[in-house]
Amino acid sequence: MKNIWVSVLMCLFMAGSAYAGEATKMKDTFSVIHSRKSVRTFTGAEVTRGNLEQILKAGMAAPTAVNMQPWSFVVITDRKILNDLAAGLPYAKMLTKAGAAIIVCTETDKAYEKVKEFAIIDASLAGENILLAIEALGLGGVWTAAYPYEDRMKHVRTTLGIPREVIPLNVIAIGVPAAGGEKPKDKFKKDKIHWEKW
Ligand SMILES: Cc1cc2nc3c(=O)[nH]c(=O)nc-3n(C[C@H](O)[C@H](O)[C@H](O)COP(=O)(O)O)c2cc1C
Repeated sequence: MKNIWVSVLMCLFMAGSAYAGEATKMKDTFSVIHSRKSVRTFTGAEVTRGNLEQILKAGMAAPTAVNMQPWSFVVITDRKILNDLAAGLPYAKMLTKAGAAIIVCTETDKAYEKVKEFAIIDASLAGENILLAIEALGLGGVWTAAYPYEDRMKHVRTTLGIPREVIPLNVIAIGVPAAGGEKPKDKFKKDKIHWEKW
């Protein structure tokens, strides 16, 4: 009887590990936070739909003012569109080697009291959750700016057919990190902290 259970468990484990191409490596919260870094060198490998869905779910788990959730997300995996985005964004050339990109969008009219700052803050928090989820999966990512640059937002809107009232906050490049790539920076500085009083 014991042998049957061992065989069943072995089969389940093997079926799980055989899930092709999906990054399944998971880290604990603090190691994810401290190992996250902007990754700009990718192998060019694809990012699976399953991983992209996990990343988007993490984005939408972020807090928003009065739970208004003013964001939406455009997901790109098409090589030509990734290259087209890169062509008009001066600091996003890594998109040509990324496996995917997520554009975090937000709308002032959908934010609490229609305040633009809430729309931007809410979408930024979703953006950080997305970056952490990318790291947790063992993938690499970097936030490249669209907002607040009018020319970059125009390029992203035109390339992706995003309506005028929608703000494309960023283009997050996502990919499999190249070996020996970027390392996290230690930014902790005690003198940045004011305990009890400034
Ligand atoms: C609002 C914002 C805009 C950024 N824009 C770009 C960009 O256009 N291109 C780029 O390569 N990195 C961009 N970055 C990434 C930063 O350069 C990076 O986060 C910073 O150097 C700290 O490094 P780290 O992410 O590895 O900790 C941006 C980050 C933020 C938060």
